[in-house]
Amino acid sequence: METPSTSILLTLTLTISSLVLVRSGDPDILSDFLIPPTLDPSTVTRQFFTFTGFRNLRKANLTGKTNALITKATKKEFPVLHGQSVSVATLLYPPSGINPPHIHPRSAELLLVLQGELEVGFVDSTNKLFVQTLRAPDLFLFPKGLVHFQRDQRRYLGKGLCN
Ligand SMILES: *[C@@H]1O[C@H](CO)[C@@H](O)[C@H](O)[C@H]1NC(C)=O
Repeated sequence: METPSTSILLTLTLTISSLVLVRSGDPDILSDFLIPPTLDPSTVTRQFFTFTGFRNLRKANLTGKTNALITKATKKEFPVLHGQSVSVATLLYPPSGINPPHIHPRSAELLLVLQGELEVGFVDSTNKLFVQTLRAPDLFLFPKGLVHFQRDQRRYLGKGLCN
């Protein structure tokens, strides 16, 4: 028989960790915004400034996945970002899922945990490792050009609650 506390634990451990990353790093542009050459400027409306690609995240299926599911809003997916020096990505983690160590050479990364708990870390240029456990709605900065990673923490959260 399930006790009420078991139900709470299951709810927590099945919760999907998600977060938002914001990056920046281009030189300033000389106009308000840039319109790609493939687009007729007279057709630019409020839609050009709107990205709806994250709506599909609600339907994401992480069954059988080990790495984070990454959905990007960069200038490729969201052309208004050309020249604006910023982009955003959302990551959904399966239980204990990871975003393996990687580098962004041109920009820092600001990470906002929207739900759940996440272990993050980076190595600085003197080889010092900084590891932190974050909980929604914590914010963490990965400095530009340093190797960094994220790992979902629910396995540990579950253990803690069981003890
Ligand atoms: C999710 O993906 C798994 C593995 O690919 C599949 O077996 C399952 O049917 C999917 N669930 C839904 C709701 O699509």
